[in-house]
Amino acid sequence: MDCEKFKIRYPEKECTLDQDEEWVTIVTRDSTEKIRLNDYEKFYEIPGLYEKVIYDKLKCDSHRVICELLNNEIEKVVFNKKKLRVLDFGAGNGVVGECLDKVVGCKVLIGLDIIQQARDAVERDRPKLYDEYYVMDISQMDECKQKILNEWNFNALVTVGALGYGDIPPQAFINAFNTIEDRGWIAFNIKDRFLNGDDDTGYKDTLKAMMGDSLEVLQKKRYCHRLSLSGESLYYYAIIGRKVNNTHPYSHKKKA
Ligand SMILES: C[S@@+](CC[C@H](N)C(=O)[O-])C[C@H]1O[C@@H](n2cnc3c(N)ncnc32)[C@H](O)[C@@H]1O
Repeated sequence: MDCEKFKIRYPEKECTLDQDEEWVTIVTRDSTEKIRLNDYEKFYEIPGLYEKVIYDKLKCDSHRVICELLNNEIEKVVFNKKKLRVLDFGAGNGVVGECLDKVVGCKVLIGLDIIQQARDAVERDRPKLYDEYYVMDISQMDECKQKILNEWNFNALVTVGALGYGDIPPQAFINAFNTIEDRGWIAFNIKDRFLNGDDDTGYKDTLKAMMGDSLEVLQKKRYCHRLSLSGESLYYYAIIGRKVNNTHPYSHKKKA
């Protein structure tokens, strides 16, 4: 479907849906369809829809915030950005990859997402952005997936807008983290309450354990990720750090 050939109808301002319940209506000449904002398969199939709703209407700023904070931290130390080999985990249709390329610049940029529609959208809208784009579920790592990812010698992990809310589970994030070299750069965001409030995603405990052990936090900033459909600011934490203590890969299990 062409972006010019449909209209987006937004719910009334007074709607008070949680982020994973929000929806819009897509109206074409022949049909009317309600699509949830987290129905990525459908969103990515329509060129420009994700950008129009998430970035233009709801003012999502996370791609810029994460890329700029990461860039600031890298520039504080002696590190050649031309040696950056980044895994963009939960890469979606490539908005973050595009921003990374522009703001940070990297030698290797690899996308990974769990759905084929994300990769198809990248090939359609941002061809040549990624050196490779994998459709893979790494919540259970096996030798084959590990080998494929290890070959890239990643020294940076970037994950934007993809932790919690039924998206990337903690074990998959840990598995991605473990593909990164020691002293590698780690940049991600997470909804504020999943980090230090009422968390039912498992991230609060996981990140607390990582931060006290294998993740050295350099920047932790609360900021407005985007607006809700009712116009309220949705706050996230941006976290930038480096991986440490890599003698043993981080494990979800508690140490004895
Ligand atoms: C809100 S979108 C964010 C996309 C992109 N990072 C951005 O900021 O524009 C979340 C993405 O995470 C992906 N995702 C969800 N669960 C995943 C998993 N277990 N492994 C990899 N990607 C996953 C979804 O398919 C979707 O593309």
